[in-house]
Amino acid sequence: MRSPRSPRRLMEIVTGMWGAKALAEATRLDLFSQLSAAPGSTATEVAARNGLAVRPAEQLLTACAGLGLLRRQGPGYANTPEAETYLVRGRPDYFGDAVLSLDHRYAGWMRLGEALRSNAPTNFDAQASESMFDPEDTELQQHFWKSMYALSATSARALAAAYDFGPVRRLLDVGGGGAAYDIELCRAYEELRATVFDLPFICELSREPVSRAGLTDRISFAPGDFLREAALPAGHDAVLLSQVLHDWDERTNRLILAKCFAALPSGGRILISELLVDDTKDGPLLPALMSLNMLVSTWGATTRRRSTGRG
Ligand SMILES: C[S@@+](CC[C@H](N)C(=O)[O-])C[C@H]1O[C@@H](n2cnc3c(N)ncnc32)[C@H](O)[C@@H]1O
Repeated sequence: MRSPRSPRRLMEIVTGMWGAKALAEATRLDLFSQLSAAPGSTATEVAARNGLAVRPAEQLLTACAGLGLLRRQGPGYANTPEAETYLVRGRPDYFGDAVLSLDHRYAGWMRLGEALRSNAPTNFDAQASESMFDPEDTELQQHFWKSMYALSATSARALAAAYDFGPVRRLLDVGGGGAAYDIELCRAYEELRATVFDLPFICELSREPVSRAGLTDRISFAPGDFLREAALPAGHDAVLLSQVLHDWDERTNRLILAKCFAALPSGGRILISELLVDDTKDGPLLPALMSLNMLVSTWGATTRRRSTGRG
């Protein structure tokens, strides 16, 4: 391996959060929706619209352009196609809630050193709550549950293409909050009906995307708690677990999987959709960092390995 010629890559790693914060604040201002409605707005116009001084408005616009989210248009700025698709409020794949939800998590990441030393979560009050899925956290309620749809819609479409759900008639989506998989799979497979099993307040919040998709007749909700209920709802021929197992430790995962198995008839299927690290545990980057995110967010969870599914 050749010696690097400069610490530039380290500079990019250590300043990664500057870009993340610029994107989060631009999203909070709803800058990309504004520029969609008024492309070519100047820094002075953006400043006036948002009650900012011109200097910070221009600095934010320049940073967003540097990040590839804006481009120059005459004396002003306009969205790039990426920003126009994912960061304009009301668009089908709006990603702003995911941006704000993940930004909210930096509170725990700021205490990563503490989590490394204590092997305990820093993203929620571990004395007051059992897990990060706490209905008391209003910020979480606002963004996380909406963000699940944005985070999962693309992988849900990929799953619909990668796996033949043709023989499946009734799908039980365990921990299916956001209902992204149910919506995308029902869109792709006309005969499919799905049940979202999730905590009661999450089921309530997930009704909105289902009704927006016009699928209330095919997607139903079974509010419950997979840790506490003795059994999961019966009457399904497949169970989906998407991004659920990485939230829990090995013992809890075995408990959840045993309940999924027990809820299915003979010949039923359990499908698991997850971010996985390579067996060699040296990447890819996103699942590797997700594992640290699980350190700050959970008791004992980790990103699992590709071939064995073990931590
Ligand atoms: C990371 S999210 C994944 C959501 C969805 N499956 C997806 O991939 O878009 C984990 C889900 O597990 C649900 N969950 C957490 N604890 C639960 C419990 N005890 N019983 C049922 N669902 C639970 C959460 O509410 C959340 O919707």
